[in-house]
Amino acid sequence: MRRLLPDPGPTSVGEQLDGLELLARAHDHRPYVITNFAITLDGRTTLHGRSGAIGSDADTEMLVGLRTKVDAVMIGAGTLRAERYGRVVGDPSQRARRERDGLPHDPLAVIVSGRLDIPWDAPLFTEGGGRVLIFTVSEAEAPETRTPVRVVRHRGRVDLGAALTYLRTERGVRALLCEGGPRLHAQLIELGLVDELFVTHAPKLGGGEGPTLAVGLSELERPLELAWLLEQDGELFARYRTIS
Ligand SMILES: NC(=O)c1ccc[n+]([C@@H]2O[C@H](COP(=O)([O-])OP(=O)(O)OC[C@H]3O[C@@H](n4cnc5c(N)ncnc54)[C@H](OP(=O)(O)O)[C@@H]3O)[C@@H](O)[C@H]2O)c1
Repeated sequence: MRRLLPDPGPTSVGEQLDGLELLARAHDHRPYVITNFAITLDGRTTLHGRSGAIGSDADTEMLVGLRTKVDAVMIGAGTLRAERYGRVVGDPSQRARRERDGLPHDPLAVIVSGRLDIPWDAPLFTEGGGRVLIFTVSEAEAPETRTPVRVVRHRGRVDLGAALTYLRTERGVRALLCEGGPRLHAQLIELGLVDELFVTHAPKLGGGEGPTLAVGLSELERPLELAWLLEQDGELFARYRTIS
């Protein structure tokens, strides 16, 4: 892997993420929020309904590496249904590293769901080891699962600003990685709740009807600052900061 910007030269995912101090950037009333997406040249974030075929192993390494740097990982229910998550940090050595860094072994998994239509048999719930917090508007009860699940209910729609404030003030979440999907992402952007976007630009065309990285976003012309640009085998790894 090479770094194109800033300071061109050889690098690696590990080296790039080593200096990433996200926790110290916490806002008073909400976590520092980063998002991560892999997209094709024509802006698709799914191929055959899922994201897996878009990025390379280096993209996966970046995503998994980012998970080790935060207190919580947030996903929308649509992404959970499509991707069927397992334990957030699956590699024991990475969990041990988190503990050495003073973090809990697993980041808190945060799910946003309207209907509580959740794949309860996904490994995230059946494997144990982590913790899950679900924001929903449904009155339905969550079943007993091996992984402990806490449900926080909102009325009408999950108020994402209030949810992030709750995570910061009640759960001590300093930095949060949102892994999408596109509809959750659009709301966070629109509400001005995203601090950084990590976007993997895969060197391929997707075609089809897959979503972009922010679905339902009103027209806005929001400039971004390119904080780094990395390259490996034609795949570009961009880190953008929002400008307030
Ligand atoms: N390429 C990538 O990097 C990438 C990343 C992530 C996802 N994806 C892909 O994106 C697709 C899923 O897209 P999506 O936009 O449907 O996913 P999503 O944003 O994860 O999920 C949308 C769902 O989240 C819930 N939700 C979101 N905001 C809410 C709010 N304010 N209040 C209440 N509920 C809320 C609703 O759940 P309910 O339906 O339960 O009401 C809604 O249907 C999948 O195919 C996945 O593979 C790709």
